[in-house]
Amino acid sequence: MHYVDRAIHVATEERDEHTARHDFSVGYLAEALGQAMRLPENELVPLREAGFVHDVGKIGIPDKILLNPGKLDAEEWEIIKSHSLRGERIIAAQSNLSCEKAGTAVEIVRAVRHHHEHYDGSGYPDGLKGDEIPLWARILLVADCYDALTQRRVYRSAASHEETMAIMNAECGAFSDPKCFEVFARMIETSPLKVRPESAQGV
Ligand SMILES: [Fe+2]
Repeated sequence: MHYVDRAIHVATEERDEHTARHDFSVGYLAEALGQAMRLPENELVPLREAGFVHDVGKIGIPDKILLNPGKLDAEEWEIIKSHSLRGERIIAAQSNLSCEKAGTAVEIVRAVRHHHEHYDGSGYPDGLKGDEIPLWARILLVADCYDALTQRRVYRSAASHEETMAIMNAECGAFSDPKCFEVFARMIETSPLKVRPESAQGV
């Protein structure tokens, strides 16, 4: 990894394999979406790396909450939500950033902090709305949602590609940036990253 120290991702692998796998998928999906949105070429690798570490803050969440297959109470949910700020803190503390990478690193840190902001302002941690949300964070949210829904979890089975796209379409505008979702919906149909029935988990 070029902008984020690989050791940060390895630490996530050690803590929770599911989160590490999810981080990788989100990174590749975000890169593909960024490319389809015609982001400048030099933004694609750091965007992918932001995806690779977007949930690294889950390192700081206790097992009884992170691995809880049941429904979380309000207090536990607040603790889960703290992962975006914990992730920001971890990435911002990297000591390997040379001057020419510093500006890009700031964008990665912002993307990690804001990857759960919703387009209508109902997300966290800052309740940012619309274009106030950094573009990379809006891209990560779409990628995050697609991967989360298509993967089996202990508390629910995996949704198919079609089911996932229907859910995301219904929530788009409130949850995700409609422009990002529109480009994603076009891009994913021909992408090798599209979840196909034979590769779906738990169906
Ligand atoms: Fe997250």
